[in-house]
Amino acid sequence: MNNKELIDQLKREKDAVILAHYYVPAEVQALADYVGDSYYLGRLAADLPNKTLVFCGVSFMGESGKLLSPDKTVLMPDREADCPMAHMVTQEAVEEARKAYDDLVVVCYVNSTAQIKSWADVCVTSSNAVKIVKNLPNQHILFIPDQNLARYVAEQVPDKHIIIPDGYCPIHHHMRSEEIRKQKELHPEAEVLAHPECNSQILEMADYIGSTSGIIDYAAGSEKRAFIIATEAGVLYELQQKRPDGEFYFADTLPVCEGMKKITLEKIIQVLRTGENAVEVEENLVKPAGNTLKRMLELAAEKGQS
Ligand code: 13P
Ligand code: SF4
Repeated sequence: MNNKELIDQLKREKDAVILAHYYVPAEVQALADYVGDSYYLGRLAADLPNKTLVFCGVSFMGESGKLLSPDKTVLMPDREADCPMAHMVTQEAVEEARKAYDDLVVVCYVNSTAQIKSWADVCVTSSNAVKIVKNLPNQHILFIPDQNLARYVAEQVPDKHIIIPDGYCPIHHHMRSEEIRKQKELHPEAEVLAHPECNSQILEMADYIGSTSGIIDYAAGSEKRAFIIATEAGVLYELQQKRPDGEFYFADTLPVCEGMKKITLEKIIQVLRTGENAVEVEENLVKPAGNTLKRMLELAAEKGQS
């Protein structure tokens, strides 16, 4: 039996489905039942009828899946697959901001631990952050933990006061604008598509800014053929599926998320076989952290300004 046949058999036995983020290795995306951005994967976790979800991504993704679907078994192929940014907030920073403004709302990027989510009022992902922040009634907003997404949202929603945090994604924040500019010089016809976690020098060069799904959908629907992609290199697999005629260029220092690349077919087989690495969220965090995600799903689904 090959890996795919074995995984299919285990999925049937355990009533399991495989969810994968666009940054995991191509062979995992090829075999997953669902591949998408953080928002799509979160919505699926809440809606899928299966007993077991195998979350191919970093730990905050599995944790969010469990918070949105506490009765399901959520398995992480690698317990060590983590997102450094998901830890970059202190409780003191949140408490200080709450003391400073009576109407403060704490908006938490989904790339955060359950504990950090439990300090917040509502979660967002890169695909719904602008819409949700725009529609909040509050004037003062602490946006944690990503400084680049916070700055991008602040630019899109200039009538609100957004407190910019210190956190950042090492891969997007340290992507070098000179390397993107070099690609632009080599391929002047190419459009620059960037994730809002990128630093502001890169976002200034972008023709389109959006989540991983947004970037892929933009390229799929564009009349152009050449694209400079300012996000993690794993999106190339889906870009090539959707635009087989496309040309995709990345920074010379290829942006690679170590955590996402820890996911392998062998580890998926192992957790499906043994039930190892089932996500558990501390009892006292389940309600407050889960509520921030549920609120996101409600607000993102609302009609209104986007
Ligand atoms: P998306 O929500 O766009 O999938 O991004 C998740 C992420 O980790 C980006 O670095
Ligand atoms: Fe976290 Fe950055 Fe990896 Fe996304 S790419 S999971 S933000 S470290």
